[in-house]
Amino acid sequence: MVRVLAIETSCDETAAAVVRDRAIESNVIASQVGAHQPFGGVVPEVASRAHLENINTVIAAAMSEAACDWSTIDAIAVTCAPGLVGSLLIGVTAAKTLALVKQKPLLGIHHLEGHLYASYLAEPSLEPPFLCLLVSGGHTSLIGVYGCGEYQLFGQTRDDAAGEAYDKVARLLGLGYPGGPVLDRLAQEGNPEAFELPEGNIRLPDGKVHPYDSSFSGLKTAVARLVEELRQTHDELPVADLAASFQKAVAQALTKRAIAAAVDHGFKTLAIGGGVAANSGLRQHLRAAAEPLGLQLIFPPLRLCTDNAAMIGCAAVDHFRRGDRSPLDLTARSRLSLLEISTLYTTAPLAVS
Ligand code: KG4
Ligand code: ZN
Repeated sequence: MVRVLAIETSCDETAAAVVRDRAIESNVIASQVGAHQPFGGVVPEVASRAHLENINTVIAAAMSEAACDWSTIDAIAVTCAPGLVGSLLIGVTAAKTLALVKQKPLLGIHHLEGHLYASYLAEPSLEPPFLCLLVSGGHTSLIGVYGCGEYQLFGQTRDDAAGEAYDKVARLLGLGYPGGPVLDRLAQEGNPEAFELPEGNIRLPDGKVHPYDSSFSGLKTAVARLVEELRQTHDELPVADLAASFQKAVAQALTKRAIAAAVDHGFKTLAIGGGVAANSGLRQHLRAAAEPLGLQLIFPPLRLCTDNAAMIGCAAVDHFRRGDRSPLDLTARSRLSLLEISTLYTTAPLAVS
């Protein structure tokens, strides 16, 4: 049994959790969404300040809800990359301080690896290999999972992430931030066939369409142009039809690529992660495409799809078991490829009994 205290501050949620193996003992999140709403998006300086104000309370709440003693904690884990560097720094500094004061091993965790591990929390019996579609405000990636730290990146967005496209289109329509949930709600009342929108194909040098990579900035521009045109002819924008047509384009693009990667590489399971996993259109399209193929779909509950520290703790448990440890001079990094995770660790010799 391995028990980890985990901290996550990569964007706009201050989160701490206690995880024992693949079981959540506490999962505390202080959301800053209200602080960023007036600005229509996350403001890095506002986020860092709020993390600083919340971090100690959130850690204390996670420890007290788990009703565990420091002596039973095996390691302190923290998201150290990628993310907003000022936000990450608050979590990393708190984790390093606790590791030093409580004399516990430190584990820096890659944020996307955390999102992958939400699937293990949802399905503790899940074993690799499986394919993961990570769709959040910052990432749209198709990742093959072969083991802890063993990943292959099959495809990604070349520009805007899926959630970012949702947020930008919502802003365009004056629907506020975050845009995903409100557009998803409106889409369910609109006609998805009302407007033809581009799927965002990426062309390879030989002119063929890239099977797994996507682009959402063209789609966003197409919506902007369409809105301009509609404003000339309509007193009131057909917002629900716009939302439904946009949602269909995004869901189709993501589904086509995820299914292609699963079929081409022989995966039997497709796990979905990130905030956009909540999207009803994406869920419908994926279910319809996966069923005839016998492909198992895993949709973790929403509280585990969006940013949280339990997923970070779950990844840390596996790294701890492998003997991975991070040095106390661990730094926050705004960018780090999922394929460079090993640079976060010095592998300590495993104890010989
Ligand atoms: O994973 P997440 O909480 O944070 C990041 O790491 O980015 O994802 C947040 C993103 C936002 O862009 C939000 O608009 C989007 O997820 N989102 C949705 C839905 N719920 C949240 N997008 C589409 N449909 C939804 N129902
Ligand atoms: Zn995230």
